[in-house]
Amino acid sequence: MDKLVIHGGVPLEGRVRVSGAKNAALPILCAALLTRERVTLTNVPRLNDVRTMQSLLSQMGVRVHATDAGTVTLDASNVDWPLAPYELVKTMRASILALGPLLARTGEARVSLPGGCAIGLRPVDQHVKGLQAMGADIDLTHGYINARASRLKGTRFAFDVVTVTGTENLMMAAALADGTTTLANAAREPEVVDLAGCLIAMGAKIDGAGTGCIVVEGVPELHGATHAVMPDRIETGTFVAAAAATHGDVVIDGAEPGSLMTVIDKLREAGADINVADRSIHVRGNGALRAANVRTAPYPAFPTDMQAQFMALATRAHGASVITETIFENRMMHVQELLRLGADIEVEGSTAVVKGVDRLTGANVMATDLRASACLVIAGLVADGETTIDRIYHLDRGYERIEDKLSALGARIERVR
Ligand code: EPZ
Repeated sequence: MDKLVIHGGVPLEGRVRVSGAKNAALPILCAALLTRERVTLTNVPRLNDVRTMQSLLSQMGVRVHATDAGTVTLDASNVDWPLAPYELVKTMRASILALGPLLARTGEARVSLPGGCAIGLRPVDQHVKGLQAMGADIDLTHGYINARASRLKGTRFAFDVVTVTGTENLMMAAALADGTTTLANAAREPEVVDLAGCLIAMGAKIDGAGTGCIVVEGVPELHGATHAVMPDRIETGTFVAAAAATHGDVVIDGAEPGSLMTVIDKLREAGADINVADRSIHVRGNGALRAANVRTAPYPAFPTDMQAQFMALATRAHGASVITETIFENRMMHVQELLRLGADIEVEGSTAVVKGVDRLTGANVMATDLRASACLVIAGLVADGETTIDRIYHLDRGYERIEDKLSALGARIERVR
């Protein structure tokens, strides 16, 4: 099992280019199921989760060709096996995103229930409820979602909770439904907007993506298209936090600053000097960091996927930062690892009070989930001495060659196989 070894205390300096967004690429790969024609995607990040999704689609009969340059072409002219098996789904919950497209395209789908993960129960009741509202006949037996629908019908559906992949699943299903579908209390994340952009390029009729109310007018079929995946706003935010935490001077290229303004505002509040251009962000951590409070919530509020990374920065900020996680019920597992590095953190339920300390000291720590891994990388870059991070397969799910990108910024970091 790979691990990362980091010698901290080095300010990050230089330029880094972010990759395409994992959480846009995953639903957009599934969108290819909706047409018999070729779909070409560019700026697809080379991540384990993306490779898993490509394998899942290939098993269904989709011809998938991926180049090293991040271009993926998909040909779903022959989807003859509408199944997402437990063996694959248990390694990547986002497989649930195949449910809506499979049902809309083939009239049937058998998708393993994802089960929970480290950060929470992660139910998919809204996905099922929405598809039932569109006329699907669904039963949950033997750990699978078994769905059938001769043709989905447009309807008006209000989500009980704001769900990103729930919104994406139903938007894809509605694209081929008979009639118009209105999705109320929809997720407004930029990744939802990027998926809508790709679907519209394929001939879908979608209004309101990015707002809480999305209206989809179903069409008989969709055609092929070419689409560039948006930059990863969470990878971008991770590099902004790392640059600020190490008192560095970093330019992040290929970014979409507008998709993470809440994160940028919060890091400015914590003392980072951040200048934003059209496609790049310049971060200087030249002053002392100050405590700032964070409460995660659906977009455009502070994203839950940046909570752990912000906490790493807060461990060295003067004063006490109150960090509240409102989306997932168990997304504080990075705390016990940060304590091993000398942080001063008290957790009450889903609220952490982080009191800044003068220094962190390197130690052996363990990654527990994707964003917790990123948090520990930032903490390791800041800590005096050597930090070893175990179980970094979590990190590889969502970050493309992060040790190479950080080394190019001067970090002393290496992967030990
Ligand atoms: C997406 O997960 C992201 N994953 C997550 O990123 C992200 O943390 C999350 O959205 C929130 O922004 C992808 O896009 C592939 P939700 P998703 O459905 O869609 C509850 C990362 O690190 N809920 O928006 O699974 C749920 O329990 C990952 O890249 C239901 O109750 O999250 C949670 O409390 C981690 N019923 C809340 O809604 C449902 O049917 C938000 O979950 C669905 C969700």
